[in-house]
Amino acid sequence: MSRHNNTFLISTPIYYVNAPRVHLGHALSTLVADVLARRARLHGQNVHFSTGTDEHGAKVARAAKESDKNPQQFVDENAANFQESFDNLNISYDHFVRTTAESHKTGAQKFLQAIYDNGYVYKDTYKGLYCEGCEAFVKENELTEDGLCPLHKTEPEKLEEENWFFKLSAFANKLEQEIGEDRINITPENKKREVLQNIQEGLEDFSISRAELEWGIPIPWDQGQVTYVWVEALSNYLTTIGYGTNPDTFDNFWPTDINVLGKDIARFHCIYWPALLWAAGLEAPETFLVHSFLNVEGHKMSKSLGNVIYPEDWAKKYSTDGARFLIASELPHDRDGNISREDMADKYNGTLKGGLGNLFSRMIVLGQKAGLAEIKNPNGAIAQDAQTKTQEVQKQAEKAYEQLDIKRALETTWQLIHYADKLLDEQKPWKVFKQDTSYKIQDTNLEETIFTGLELVRQVAVLAAPVIPETTRAIHEALKIEWTETLPEGKFKELKQFGAFELKVPEKNVHLFS
Ligand code: MSP
Repeated sequence: MSRHNNTFLISTPIYYVNAPRVHLGHALSTLVADVLARRARLHGQNVHFSTGTDEHGAKVARAAKESDKNPQQFVDENAANFQESFDNLNISYDHFVRTTAESHKTGAQKFLQAIYDNGYVYKDTYKGLYCEGCEAFVKENELTEDGLCPLHKTEPEKLEEENWFFKLSAFANKLEQEIGEDRINITPENKKREVLQNIQEGLEDFSISRAELEWGIPIPWDQGQVTYVWVEALSNYLTTIGYGTNPDTFDNFWPTDINVLGKDIARFHCIYWPALLWAAGLEAPETFLVHSFLNVEGHKMSKSLGNVIYPEDWAKKYSTDGARFLIASELPHDRDGNISREDMADKYNGTLKGGLGNLFSRMIVLGQKAGLAEIKNPNGAIAQDAQTKTQEVQKQAEKAYEQLDIKRALETTWQLIHYADKLLDEQKPWKVFKQDTSYKIQDTNLEETIFTGLELVRQVAVLAAPVIPETTRAIHEALKIEWTETLPEGKFKELKQFGAFELKVPEKNVHLFS
């Protein structure tokens, strides 16, 4: 994956802390990154996974004022809430970035200074509109007929300031080439096309400073201005690995392997960010994974509609892994998706509790009734067929993960549950215990069916480990097979091998997702 040594750097956007806690929209970006980070650790890579909070700018300053708090106190409280929300979703970040941290400030200023020293910054007057909700300079033709921001339904502010400008236009050709020839990957394909179209429509230089705002990082060569919040926020992808403070770590990890983001912020990431990096003499990220949005019951999620979903509430209701699975299995890859609360309850009860959970528990009971304490791979026709099926599913699921399509990876993995259910229906092992004389299952088949069922459960757990890590651990613990989330290179291959381990039948039943 990574272009050098065995490292893997993956980052989510950092979230505005004017919101008090993590909602489903934030959780989408973060969960995608978490799943990919966990997968890389299983493959023996040295991972740095960053997420965090975007704490400067006009929007946050206003929210602090409205809640009668000084900005630092306000962001401290909300950043702590975000961090706690992510912990409650078992997000395995290596660094929780905060843009008010001293190390970020040092790195962000060094980055700006490099762009300035390389001659890509000039002074000019910005006369135009600014949408605080977007934290972006906007044009009249982007507004609704009533002159409102289409996203925030607010009137943008009229600004006229002396600002520092970045020569984005100097990088238009290079951007088109690098993206067009996939040296910078934008995935999925439809998002790449949109970005290319954006570039072809023409790129204008943009202001990278604000004169009338105090809540930000001062421009290093002009203390009277603060850095435009987007430029400062983007530089978190550098400062998280020590740009400006820890050159060895930085050199070890840069450039980013995968930047995960939502489609609303593709322009900032896929156009502004590579250009800013080149201007500072740095390499651009390898891949931008741009996910779409999820509507709730057919409507855009919004406070006024009262349909905002807070994933922590789902974690309480469905367990942490349950909430992670429900979100991951609906991840909108190349187009917007829709979720309904009723469907989620059905999916939890059907796919997780009734599917994986029930299969595991049935297999344990059968093993106990058959008096089996431990079973080696009998390697007969039943196990061999299941092994072939598992290999096929592994190939497809791995491919889906590699194409960064987590929803499809899970759907493919679940074929193994259906396969096991079908096997049990055919073999009907329980009939032996009911002493149904009309049905004769050979003893060898009984043991082999139980082994195969248990092993199929384990294989589902291995493939879905990045999404449901606690469940994977519980299944392996029950079967007395060692499981750790960071594996030496090559170990994952062994764990994925069908029938490689002797399975212990647990003495007590295990109820996953009860
Ligand atoms: N602070 C900037 C990002 C700076 S990164 C250098 C920002 N923050 S945000 O909190 O508004 O959103 C961050 C991420 O959350 C984006 O990936 C965005 O797509 C996602 N979502 C926020 N609200 C969303 C929905 N309602 N639905 C889906 N995802 C959305 O932008």
